[in-house]
Amino acid sequence: MNHSQWVNIVEVAPRDGLQNEKLCISLEDKIELIQRLDHAGLNYLECGSFVSPKWVPQMEATSEIFEYLHKHSTPDKTYAALVPNIKGLESAINNGVKEIAVFIAASESFSKKNINKSIDESITVAREVIKEAQKNNIKVRAYLSCVLGCPYEGQVNTQSVVDLTKQLIEFGAYEVSLGDTIGVGTPFKTLQLLKAMKEKVPVSMLAGHFHDTYGQALANVFVSLQEGIRTFDSSVAGLGGCPYAKGASGNLATEDLVYMLQNSGYETGVNLSKLIEAGNFINRVLVRETNSKVSRANTK
Ligand code: HMG
Ligand code: MG
Repeated sequence: MNHSQWVNIVEVAPRDGLQNEKLCISLEDKIELIQRLDHAGLNYLECGSFVSPKWVPQMEATSEIFEYLHKHSTPDKTYAALVPNIKGLESAINNGVKEIAVFIAASESFSKKNINKSIDESITVAREVIKEAQKNNIKVRAYLSCVLGCPYEGQVNTQSVVDLTKQLIEFGAYEVSLGDTIGVGTPFKTLQLLKAMKEKVPVSMLAGHFHDTYGQALANVFVSLQEGIRTFDSSVAGLGGCPYAKGASGNLATEDLVYMLQNSGYETGVNLSKLIEAGNFINRVLVRETNSKVSRANTK
């Protein structure tokens, strides 16, 4: 297979997909979701976050999830956790996590609401976490939120987005996932951002994380593909949203992403039927209809 036709999918349902859910989801159901996504062929699963349980109660069982994964993970797959600070990193180390994601934002107001820190403070923390993680042989991915708009400030300065991305890479993140946290980006804005980005950052170190609030996520993926991005984050059944981003609805549904990619000559390694079953499973748990059009079309 031509390597350029391979697209990496970072499945974020167990973390981004569930973090905003009010219903208390059992550990067994979280583990079953991870197992089903794993069996569907996803190679990268973001399984939880080591954040404050007072801030995000739904992620409190992340240690137990990694305890399970310690015994049952599939070799060569990545099971990652989100980490906001050194305390979170310590939990990741204690739980044998091999890959973490740090997260900062390009908007001052969102940064304050999400992690109680200014952008400058968050950069200092991210640098320290990346350095300590690397000392412990833990790989680090990074998120930059609000790259195409902020729920509190509206427009976000493109140059700041580029500069912050560059900094995260200089600190040692192997990839920066560009977060359209509230899904306001359009293909035109995505293209403008990526053109600016490519002047300063290798495109191979970028990923797209498009929430689908305004139905633009798949179109933004398409533009990003044309610009050379080959890693996208998505969430089965289109679950997701950040508790500190008012108006943030679901992520791009993985089923819709996989369908588009597989019918456009790209390889993902994902079995679409099994993926749809995984989505149906978590929707039954959440007593919810799917947000994935592909899933709806296939289960009628
Ligand atoms: P803070 O209150 O400023 O923290 O919160 P603090 O350092 O003052 O500590 C306060 C308490 O929290 C202390 O406990 C600490 O021990 C504890 P107490 O003494 O009161 O009992 N604490 C922790 N506990 C567990 N794990 C930790 C931790 N750190 C401190 N790691 C903090 C600061 C960052 C902790 C908090 O704001 C927080 O947890 N925020 C997380 C917010 C979050 O998870 N948001 C969603 C993820 S981001 C997202 O969804 C966007 C993304 O998808 C990309 C996109 O869409 O753009 C990634
Ligand atoms: Mg997100």
